[in-house]
Amino acid sequence: MTKTIAIFASGNGTNFVALHAAIVERQLPVNVGLLVCDQPAAPVIQKAQALGVPVLIVNFRDYANKAAAEAIILTALQAHHVDAVLLAGYMRIIGPTLLAAYPHKIINIHPALLPHFPGRHGIEDAFAAGVKTTGVTIHFIDAGIDTGQIIDQREVPVLPGDTVDQLATRIHACEHQFYPDVLQSLINKGAI
Ligand code: GAR
Repeated sequence: MTKTIAIFASGNGTNFVALHAAIVERQLPVNVGLLVCDQPAAPVIQKAQALGVPVLIVNFRDYANKAAAEAIILTALQAHHVDAVLLAGYMRIIGPTLLAAYPHKIINIHPALLPHFPGRHGIEDAFAAGVKTTGVTIHFIDAGIDTGQIIDQREVPVLPGDTVDQLATRIHACEHQFYPDVLQSLINKGAI
């Protein structure tokens, strides 16, 4: 049976596009039912529109608090019959409203080997620390920042002479394969 996912993103949306492309190419039984974006000027919005994916823009400044904004998101998720949520560069902590509605069904990708280098600058922080190996983590979401049960990790080497931009390019290339691989595996296992 086809499952419906929502993707949440705040920025560029390269993972959004990679997920969408992989779902089509691999003929996964997945429908990208909704993009949720919290940044009205984010490039991901046009990318979703170009692919015909419905977009919900929620500017949290327009709401009294996180619960009020997430109530709007939850209504849309339910209206689109969303089974699971994939965060792809969504730079906001998920609150109790959405966590309670989607237990073990909200997944995040982080550009470092958690628990190392959580937060907004995982690539830069790993580079600055001088590690020889960093990578990508995909995990279930809980109430913390980049905490939650790890589903899988993939290593990415930091090569001698790398700039942070070169490392970021290598990490993003890894993410664009890894996220679809994990989605496919979760679908195969019936976890979504
Ligand atoms: C990705 O590298 C993702 O791992 C990261 O944001 C980027 C979004 O890129 N997420 C985090 O840092 C979460 N803490 P994209 O908009 O091009 O997909």
